[in-house]
Amino acid sequence: MAKQRTSRAQFSSKFGLIAAAAGSAIGLGNIWKFPYITGVYGGAAFLFVYLGFILAIGLPVMLSELIIGRKSRRNAFGAFKKLAPGTPWKYIGSFGVAAAFLILSFYGVVAGWSIKYIFFSLDKTFHSLSPQDISGSFASFIQDPLQPLLFQIIFMLLTGAIVIIGVQKGIERYSKILMPILLVIIIVLDIRAITLPGAGEGLKFLFHPDFSRLSFEGVLSALGHAFFSLSLGMGTLITYGSYVKKDTNLVSTAIQVTAADTLVAILAGIAIFPAVFAFNIQPDKGVGLIFETLPNVFQQMPGGMVFSILFFILLTIAALTSAISILEVVVAYFAEELKMKRNVATVLATALITLLGIICSLSMGIFSDVILFKRNVFDLLDHISANILLPIGGMFIALFIGWKFGKKKVVQEIAEGGSLKGGILNVFMILVKVVAPIAIFIVFLQGLKILDLFTAS
Ligand code: TRP
Repeated sequence: MAKQRTSRAQFSSKFGLIAAAAGSAIGLGNIWKFPYITGVYGGAAFLFVYLGFILAIGLPVMLSELIIGRKSRRNAFGAFKKLAPGTPWKYIGSFGVAAAFLILSFYGVVAGWSIKYIFFSLDKTFHSLSPQDISGSFASFIQDPLQPLLFQIIFMLLTGAIVIIGVQKGIERYSKILMPILLVIIIVLDIRAITLPGAGEGLKFLFHPDFSRLSFEGVLSALGHAFFSLSLGMGTLITYGSYVKKDTNLVSTAIQVTAADTLVAILAGIAIFPAVFAFNIQPDKGVGLIFETLPNVFQQMPGGMVFSILFFILLTIAALTSAISILEVVVAYFAEELKMKRNVATVLATALITLLGIICSLSMGIFSDVILFKRNVFDLLDHISANILLPIGGMFIALFIGWKFGKKKVVQEIAEGGSLKGGILNVFMILVKVVAPIAIFIVFLQGLKILDLFTAS
């Protein structure tokens, strides 16, 4: 495998890229983070703004990343060095590597929670707890100084191990088979959730917008989450694009991955919010929302224990296919730019990220009074990476494709394996040249003010 690496591995089929890119996109972002932030920012209005950002910014940036990756055949950092030698564009890649670091540190913590819930699910008594006790056991678990670390470390070891095994074997094989099964389980959960007494309130919360409840902070988070959920803004899809064959249709890949990712998030929302209202849980509970809500739903299902075990196993695997794509960004950078051996790079990156993750995890418990910019370490890393680094990265990626790379080369690169003609091509170019950068810039500046990151009020 190491040999194959130096000549750059490739995805074996067109489906390989879609499976791996969807495996990267679909993860905790859809099933854990989307419901929790939708709850925090007031429901449907947030959802609609999020969908707008997905279409107008997410989709074009995704296509841009795939183009940059396939054209350059390099990691996120090397790609810009190759396509725009001697220019500062390469620093976009550095943002990406930094973002990858921060994201994976807290991502590993939440994935660890998911592993813990596999074990909770195996425990019969867990299935007879009241909603209050379910919430209570979540709180005492994440505040524990040791247990969450154990599961986080297990998760990070798995992630590192798969990255060492390699691109094709490691990534494709798992995502292809397992993601469809996860989708089926979520649909079963949806059916149970919407038939709970009182479910209507939840559906109304999710789909009936009340824009007066939407804050500017909500708009910024919707933008940040569009990037987070689609795995954009830090070079994951540049790196994956670099493994793609010339005959792959990049346009249809981007559309399919975006559609699948959005569908899973909405289906996760449909599983959560009816239950939130049926069990009288506060929708703005925060990071614990799915862990405090879903166990109640499983209790109300025939075979609930089995579904619960399966759900958390598959959620962990969905997190794993995303985590490997995040780690891959750091590893490809260490290996190709810092000339480390791939295995050494993987071990080093995994170890450093795990350490930072340990601090995130402890910030739920013993370090909870360490508050920086009004947030604990976990929230701060999530906020800086998703709402600041990714949108900035995305803005520069769009600017790069729009102004530096240019329409002519876009047309050439897309023509390999697909096409984008006339009107749609022009819409794409306007989006990446003007609309996406300006929108990101405005949201971002407003967000800085309102989020009090630099000013304390
Ligand atoms: N999109 C993944 C999720 O929703 C997380 C993720 C994977 C990611 N790769 C990324 C986020 C790159 C931002 C950038 O869970």
